[in-house]
This record gives sequence, structure tokens and C-alpha cells, in this order.
Amino acid sequence: MSEINSSIFAPAMLAGRTAFITGGGTGIGLGIAQMFSRLGARVAVASRKQDVVMAAAKSLQSAGGEALGIVTDVRNYDAVDAAMKQTADRWGGIDILINNAAGNFACPTEELSPNGWKTVVDIDLNGTFNCCRAGFSYLSASPHVGRIVNIITAYAWGGWPGCAPAAAAKAGIQSLTRTLALEWGPKNILSNTVAPGPIADTVGTRKIHEETDRAEAELDRVPVARFGRVDEIAAAVTYLVSPAALYVNGTDLVVDGGRQFKATSSRSRKS
Ligand code: COA
Repeated sequence: MSEINSSIFAPAMLAGRTAFITGGGTGIGLGIAQMFSRLGARVAVASRKQDVVMAAAKSLQSAGGEALGIVTDVRNYDAVDAAMKQTADRWGGIDILINNAAGNFACPTEELSPNGWKTVVDIDLNGTFNCCRAGFSYLSASPHVGRIVNIITAYAWGGWPGCAPAAAAKAGIQSLTRTLALEWGPKNILSNTVAPGPIADTVGTRKIHEETDRAEAELDRVPVARFGRVDEIAAAVTYLVSPAALYVNGTDLVVDGGRQFKATSSRSRKS
């Protein structure tokens, strides 16, 4: 449930823009799609599961938005290329790319198979490259200045025990984003990241914190003493694609309640 209402951003702020959101069918990706749609953007939601993307597109349309659901695996460059072409053919271009699709699971590194490592890095890092590369020609032609926002995590630089491939992939995405900021800034595309902390009601938090019985310990490490909300991440992404952020390029917007600076829980400091 979104608590950030549309009056926080100007109505129709994203009118005339087309956004392509990977992993846009659920969780943070869907929250971004909903906020963009409420602000007037046309939204293509891309992910692997047909029923998920179709349900997401239908819900956006029912709320009055223009939306398209596309089945795509970001690991497959040709599939990504075709999905972007389909979007651009439908609406005349692509202005905003949100690389949100991610895979992750908790596994001690000494038990992780090489294919487990490769699978996560393929989805997160290679998938982000595939979408940026396939999206370049559309984004660079945007009359609104093309935007790329890559969803990473502050665990990428703090270390992430049990999630080595995701941490390494997200660090790779951070580096890729900075390179693109330099290479593509002069070519009409701004590239930034948003780094969420633990966000309630997401697959990531369920798999990494709740199913491993670490939710309480994680909560103890968040200075504002709660998990974040999906709409708080969507709002940060919305700022980065807005006209207010035309001079923001190559930066990380960390939205984690201060989690990155509190590595030790208050409970363990007391004991
Ligand atoms: N622990 C250890 N290894 C695991 C694992 C786990 N929990 N889950 C998958 N793997 C390994 C598999 O064993 C396999 O390696 P192997 O061939 O050596 O046995 C490899 O990873 C690929 O698994 P597979 O199930 O074929 O991959 P997939 O493409 O179907 O799934 C995941 C990819 C596993 C990352 C999947 O969970 C996913 O994509 N989820 C998307 C949602 C998500 O995770 N969101 C959280 C973002 S923070």
C-alpha cells in the first residue's frame, strides 16, 4: 500500500515519457511502475513470468495507466533487444530504463556451486548490461534526457555474508553505472543507482532475512528502527528520473534508514 500520495510529485510529471522496468511485475519493480504510471508515464513491465507481467500490466491499466507486459529473461540479449523494440514501436521511444530484475538466495560461499554463482551474476550484472546496451539508441534519443536507474544495495560495498554473488554483481553494477555516467552523460543519458536497505514485503527480505531467521537482527541494525517501504524506494527512483535531477549523474542514492553506517546491532553492543 502506497503511503506517498501523488501530490508529493507534480501531477503528470512523467507525462510523455516511456519507462521500461525489469522485474516490474512484483515488489519494488511493481511499486516503481505504479508510481510512474500515476505520474503519467507509459510503462512496460518486463519479467520472466507471463502471468506476473500480465497481471501487473492489467492492474496498471485498471488504475487508468498505459501499460504493457512483456515476457523477457534479462540474461538473453536478443530477448531484451526484442522487448525494447516492441516497447519503442508501441510508444515511439524509451526515455527511462529501470534495471530492477535480480536473483538472490542465501548460501554460504563455501557451499555455493559455480553455477549458483553464475546464475545470480548473469541475472543481476549481465542482465543490467544487456538492458543498458539494448536501450542505448532509444534513451540517447529521448527529448527528456534518457535516464537509467540501476537498483543495487549498500551491502555491495559493506560485504554481504551468505550472498557473495549478489554483492559482487551489485558492486559490478555500481561500477558499470559510473562508467556509463561518464561515457553516456555526453550522449544524453544520465545513469544512477538506488540502493535500498531491507524493504518490507519483498521477496529479497523474505529470502535473505526472514527465511534465515535474521529479520530481528537486521531490524536492530536499522537506525530508524523499521524496514523500508516499497513506495519509499519508488519515490527515490522517481526523483532520479524527474526534471529535478538533470544534474545528477553517476551517483548512488542510498535509501536504507541509515543501515549502511550501523554495522553492529545495539543488541550485540549491549552484550
Ligand atoms: N542455495 C544454493 N544454491 C542454489 C539455491 C540456493 N538456495 N538456489 C539456486 N541455487 C543454485 C542451483 O543449485 C543451481 O546450481 P547447480 O546447477 O550447480 O545445482 C543454480 O543456482 C541455478 O539454479 P536454478 O534454479 O536453475 O536457477 P533459476 O534461474 O531458476 O533461478 C534464482 C535463479 C535461484 C536466483 C531464483 O531464485 C530467482 O531468479 N529468483 C528471482 C527473485 C529473487 O530472488 N529476488 C530476490 C532479489 S534480492
